[in-house]
Amino acid sequence: MYENLDGLIRTCYCGEFKEAELNNNVIAMGWIDCRRDFGDLVFVDLRDRTGIVQVVFNKEIFHGDFAKVDSLRNEFVIAVEGKLVRRDEETYNPKIPTGTIEIKAEKLKVLSSSAPVPFAVDDTEKVNDMLALKYRFLELRKPSKQNILKLRSDVCKIVRNYLDDMGFLEIETPMLGKSTPEGARDYLVPSRTCPNKFFALPQSPQLYKQLLMVSGVDKYYQIARCFRDEDLRADRQPEFTQIDMELSFVDREEQVMSIVEEMVRQIFDKTIGYKLPEHFEVLDYTDAMNRFGTDKPDTRFALELVDISDLAVECGLEPFKKAVKNGGSVRVLNAKDKCDKLSKSDLEKLVTFVKGCGAPGLSYMTVTAEGPKSPLVKYFSEEQMAEILKRTDAGSNDVIFFVADGDNELVQMALGKLRLHLGEMFGMIDHSKFSVLWVTNFPQFEYSKEEGRFVAKHHPFTCPKDEDVKYIDSGDLSKVRAKAYDIVVNGYELGGGSIRIHDQNLQEKMFGALGFEEERIQELFGFFVNAFKYGAPPHGGLAIGLDRLIMLLAGTTDIKSVIAFPKIQNASDVLTGAPDFVSDKQIEDVYISLVEPKEDK
Ligand code: AMO
Repeated sequence: MYENLDGLIRTCYCGEFKEAELNNNVIAMGWIDCRRDFGDLVFVDLRDRTGIVQVVFNKEIFHGDFAKVDSLRNEFVIAVEGKLVRRDEETYNPKIPTGTIEIKAEKLKVLSSSAPVPFAVDDTEKVNDMLALKYRFLELRKPSKQNILKLRSDVCKIVRNYLDDMGFLEIETPMLGKSTPEGARDYLVPSRTCPNKFFALPQSPQLYKQLLMVSGVDKYYQIARCFRDEDLRADRQPEFTQIDMELSFVDREEQVMSIVEEMVRQIFDKTIGYKLPEHFEVLDYTDAMNRFGTDKPDTRFALELVDISDLAVECGLEPFKKAVKNGGSVRVLNAKDKCDKLSKSDLEKLVTFVKGCGAPGLSYMTVTAEGPKSPLVKYFSEEQMAEILKRTDAGSNDVIFFVADGDNELVQMALGKLRLHLGEMFGMIDHSKFSVLWVTNFPQFEYSKEEGRFVAKHHPFTCPKDEDVKYIDSGDLSKVRAKAYDIVVNGYELGGGSIRIHDQNLQEKMFGALGFEEERIQELFGFFVNAFKYGAPPHGGLAIGLDRLIMLLAGTTDIKSVIAFPKIQNASDVLTGAPDFVSDKQIEDVYISLVEPKEDK
């Protein structure tokens, strides 16, 4: 493709010049990455998103005023014309694909000059985060960032091709919608034309995509922007993107999972050449919690939790007994062969770490050739202790960590975090590998201590397991499992979805179990429930977090680095200064009056 610019036609991208074009007259355009000035001879590395080509300005060959060459500085945008030649062999640069060739410049056009840049536009030094975000347009010029933007674009293309082939239609859904409760806080947009009313930006296109199934679309997808006003973490952004999909005439989880599996396999293979297994492992939610202490386990290393509640309830240690009797558990984790690698102060740090996770404490027991050593030992009988050692496969030089609490999930969560912490600390995780798995059989409901009632674990439209519907009738809500599934990669929740309720009676049952009154149902999602009165096909779907996917493929743990213009911790944009104050007139137009924030907000 030739591009005409001010009479100049770019013949090739900088990084794509090949030896085959040697001795041709070429025109290259790009940014000056660096220059080396030897008086009558000036070398310039010219950069665009494909890479770098060396340009040589030799006063004897150059047509025109050489002062123009002298004036060049880093990040100037230039066009050069000249002959593509082979470099002298001793000046070959094996680090770049164009390292054996260079352009002998005859003509130069300065397309734009540049002020001195606040940091070097290369990947050699780590730039302060805030500075890098303020000058994001410079940060994005770096090869590593260009590669991520390209990767993101490639993934979207693979997704589109794959889903298109499978008969999915790409359909956009509104950004300005109705506020419905869906977990996080909504971003609200005041309406000028409907005074005192607000739109909400979508947390996900969930209700719209289900309405599309009722509309007969059969299979839908969208690379959808979502907005959630929630606390940021390294893997969360207030504004993020989902690969969102939904399909009709499915009623089993596997029908959706198999389509997603193949898509994810293709993405990993076609972008980074990584072959994922033909079938992803499927873990039951209860198993995941028991073995790894989380519903998003990182299975790249083996360390697993062991339940000793049945032994602890019989032991002589009151807090352990009480924990089990109060409905909680006592669980342990065996750090194999790590005793000599953990100093007393390391162990104390681990206690502080676990307390920081909300657990009441962490006890530990070291194992030597003579047997277990710990103040805990005296509270257990010999048989009980032998059983603990057996279950944890304990041997000399091991350290066994104990967490006990009346809240079973807290015990699992704290040990799950300790597991990851130890995994990182001792380099147990093979970072060249990907662990990809499904977690299924989630509970349909979870008990909210704040609200003092059961709430939906996913959303109220998730279909319960057929065989568990009877527990909704009997009020045993904790026994109801959902037809829901999460896809988990390296300990990150990459995506989640479910088979939905399409039967009105079951939906009413579900609302009833959640304690929604008819009036409230109508107020919140009357439009949605009413649509289901007019013939809804069985359907299900899933959404994958695109940003998280790119993060994993790019081998980073910072979601900001895979988004062109991300937000920082307080959900603001350093580059543009958004959010920002607006004029009184703009505020009046939408019937809003401002309130001074309280100090502690
Ligand atoms: P869920 O809320 O599980 O499901 O979201 C699906 C996936 O979106 C990603 N994700 C995020 N990524 C970055 N920043 C965030 N703040 C953020 N929140 C979520 C995660 C997550 O797995 N409507 C349902 C899907 C369905 O049932 O079809 C939904 O949104 O990778």
